Amino acid sequence: MMETVVSGIRSTGKLLLGNYYGALKNFIKMQKENRCYFFIADYHALTTHPKPDDLHGNIKQVLAEYLACGIDPETATVFIQSDVPEVCEMYLLLNMNAYVGELERTASFKEKIRKQPDNINAGLLTYPVLMAADIIIHKADHVPVGKDQEQHLEMTRKFARRFNTMYSVDYFPEPDAYNFGQQLIKIPGLDGSGKMGKSEGNGVFLADNPKDIRKKVMRAVTDEGPSAPNQEPSEPVKNLFTIMKAVSDHETVKYFQEKHASCEIRYGDMKKQLAEDIIKVTEPIRERINVLLSDNDYLARVVKRGAEKARESASKTVREVREIIGYRPF
Ligand code: TRP
Repeated sequence: MMETVVSGIRSTGKLLLGNYYGALKNFIKMQKENRCYFFIADYHALTTHPKPDDLHGNIKQVLAEYLACGIDPETATVFIQSDVPEVCEMYLLLNMNAYVGELERTASFKEKIRKQPDNINAGLLTYPVLMAADIIIHKADHVPVGKDQEQHLEMTRKFARRFNTMYSVDYFPEPDAYNFGQQLIKIPGLDGSGKMGKSEGNGVFLADNPKDIRKKVMRAVTDEGPSAPNQEPSEPVKNLFTIMKAVSDHETVKYFQEKHASCEIRYGDMKKQLAEDIIKVTEPIRERINVLLSDNDYLARVVKRGAEKARESASKTVREVREIIGYRPF
């Protein structure tokens, strides 16, 4: 039996190297052996109130980036969240079994309160409910996401379990956050602390050109260098090693780790190498992004077919859920 995989990324701007390692790389690895639904979370993008003119452009950008990274729309179902309005009904139904207290305790919500105190909308509070709806509407088994989504997946499982218990059914599977049997990935930013994020301005975009990548990496925060042999690297330097472990080969990482351990490291050399290795990954993707962005007809065909397939699966679930809840025809 094929397992079902669902994942999405919010369309709030260009995708980062962090999205690639946290999510996209897994999407591509999983697409052959599983029934995959990969979507662009453009309802979720509304929590930050994008301008109407930006919304469509961002969706198109992420779509081109999905495909440029190697998602095959012939194999996987690639769609736009707002093209499948069935998810709104699922969201409404799930909201009745989601408690305000648990939503208020969600880490991402608390962070948003801190970051955008003048826009704490109800959509932010129920963000995990919509996300759970996205996932369980296709009865997903696995959800490839980065470390930052772990708690949302825990909540998804809770909502699925709660529904099953409430109606004494064994209907929804409990999906797990997935990263090929390994730990979930968190790619740090270049500014010395925290994860690579769009709003943090500390990241490399897949669509960045080599010149910009070199500039960004060369400016990355480091320290004055180790003062004694075998010293634990400081946070900013550790972050550069983490990125390097994702993009560079094992030998390269080891070389610079040894240089650090023997206090001979020159961060400039390390950054030069890191920039080139990032470019090796992103440059073919960037070229494909540009080709895809200029082929609107193709993009339109992909999402039209994707929406059809996603709606087929979503409407079946909603129909069955309505039945379970007790909505009956006269
Ligand atoms: N919350 C995810 C992010 O910020 C996006 C997302 C929305 C998602 N719905 C999802 C991810 C369902 C996986 C499954 O990137």
